[in-house]
Amino acid sequence: KEELLTLAIESSCDETSAAVLRGGRTILSNIISTQIPVHQKFGGVVPEIASRKHIVNIMPVIDECLQKAGVKLADIDQVAVTYGPGLVGALLVGVSAAKSLAFSLGVPLIGVNHLEGHIFANFLSTPDLEPPFMALVVSGGHTALVDVRGYNHFHMMGQTRDDAAGEAFDKIARVMGLPYPGGPRIDALAKEGNPLAIDFPQALNEKGNYEFSFSGLKSAVLNYINSEKMKGHELNKPDIAASFQRSVIEVLVAKAFQAVEEAGRDTLVLAGGVAANSGLEARLREEAAKRGVRFLYPSKILCTDNAAMIGCRGYYQSLSGRFSDLYLNAVPGLGL
Ligand code: KG4
Ligand code: ZN
Repeated sequence: KEELLTLAIESSCDETSAAVLRGGRTILSNIISTQIPVHQKFGGVVPEIASRKHIVNIMPVIDECLQKAGVKLADIDQVAVTYGPGLVGALLVGVSAAKSLAFSLGVPLIGVNHLEGHIFANFLSTPDLEPPFMALVVSGGHTALVDVRGYNHFHMMGQTRDDAAGEAFDKIARVMGLPYPGGPRIDALAKEGNPLAIDFPQALNEKGNYEFSFSGLKSAVLNYINSEKMKGHELNKPDIAASFQRSVIEVLVAKAFQAVEEAGRDTLVLAGGVAANSGLEARLREEAAKRGVRFLYPSKILCTDNAAMIGCRGYYQSLSGRFSDLYLNAVPGLGL
């Protein structure tokens, strides 16, 4: 079983990606073709353009990933693919490609939940990691605390009521005139700013509440920027970035460790694109050390959307016979 070769495909948003894994945790190749430059002039992902680009990219990306892995299509034992959540047209490209390949090769198809994939990126970065552990999932579309009780057993502790953390980063960046995606830009700016310069709200930051809300924070930052402009003040972008980022981070850190404590876990893992945020990682690391909690996060390339994490999740599904049939469809609003 350890030698199973899984071909994985991810196309839920603006990255077309394919990977080959040997067993559950060995990446033979992980090719990511990003569309970021294409969407940048629109300030965000344009779904219709994303779908069209996926169609153009998908076969070359799969070819390149097989070549890099040094395996032939005929050697593939199973095909894993993201079927949700995400943009429906984007998801459909990957799902259709995966179904065609699985059918023509006569191998099993495995539909994978994108959020579970983000969590499973940690198994690739940390080979000895085993459930149970607490996962903080922060991406452009999701913010959630998930108690991972087993490879197929997830308990949602709480999620966002409105905007995702990454979405807030992207929107704030946009009004500050920074290009898409804003997360990395704010992260870099924040390093030069004073996080205590402006007092932005930290919503729902109360004990026992595992829900998040970032739309109030977003409005507060927008109002601040507008009022500064009205007063004719020059915007101190580093201070705004640092203060905004601090508000997001403090809420995430407080809730993550409360969840760790409530569930009685000794390990916290970070997942999703916002896991690449250096401020968040530093604060979680500091707090984990204080509490004697093991803290893990994936390497940067495995934090943002990629097919290797989908292959890892797919492999563990296959071990328990969780396959899909050829009626598999894209489910844009798929929950955990
Ligand atoms: O997981 P991901 O690649 O796509 C989704 O599934 O949503 O996450 C993308 C999100 C974007 O909102 C991006 O701005 C954010 O992750 N992001 C960051 C950083 N790098 C990426 N946010 C904050 N700091 C970063 N360094
Ligand atoms: Zn993602």
